[in-house]
Amino acid sequence: MALVIAIDGPAAAGKGTLARKLARHYGLPHLDTGLTYRATAKALLDEGKPLDDEAVAAEMAARVDLGHLDRSVLSAHEIGEAASKVAAMPAVRVALVDAQRRFAASGKGAVLDGRDIGTVVCPDAPVKLYVTADAEIRARRRYDEITAKGEEADFSQILEDVRRRDERDMGRKDSPLRPADDAHLLDTSKMGIEAAFQAALTFVDKRLDP
Ligand code: DC
Repeated sequence: MALVIAIDGPAAAGKGTLARKLARHYGLPHLDTGLTYRATAKALLDEGKPLDDEAVAAEMAARVDLGHLDRSVLSAHEIGEAASKVAAMPAVRVALVDAQRRFAASGKGAVLDGRDIGTVVCPDAPVKLYVTADAEIRARRRYDEITAKGEEADFSQILEDVRRRDERDMGRKDSPLRPADDAHLLDTSKMGIEAAFQAALTFVDKRLDP
């Protein structure tokens, strides 16, 4: 069976870093599915299209090229905000989930991270992780990340953003963020990334060779 590792969780829980480390360790391709929603949003913004027209957004989603997702361009805050709006549109999700499933099935396995990988995109994945951390801690990490680059940041604003993003991701009707029934929960509130990686490795290895 192909080794598909599905990683879900809220924003800034550390799932992206964990996914990249696991992909490197097991020699698998990695897809950050959040970037596909971000690329859809960016295409709409660039072309001056409305963010609330589902048919137009779905057309853009169908054109997203998974081979050309540039994190450095797509990580901008306003693109994240716009992405969480288009991510609530069922027709956008149909187009992107289709591309994500093709990515997952294209080789000997893959690591995908997002909000609905274990529940919707790859429900049969042999390994599912749900990575989370307290909202205050996720906001603190984001704050430290920004200030480490020498940029200004407002902690209470970031915390508010994190909470609003959680509400939007968990509260939407289509594919809300939630752990799959068979997901392994990894709370990184009191763990550094290296400890989280070791905990994930132990879990994955046990799944592969019980
Ligand atoms: O993880 P991120 O911040 O790059 O995600 C951007 C938005 O896309 C976020 O609001 C959640 C949404 N998203 C989603 O709905 N499903 C996914 N599999 C990945 C991201």
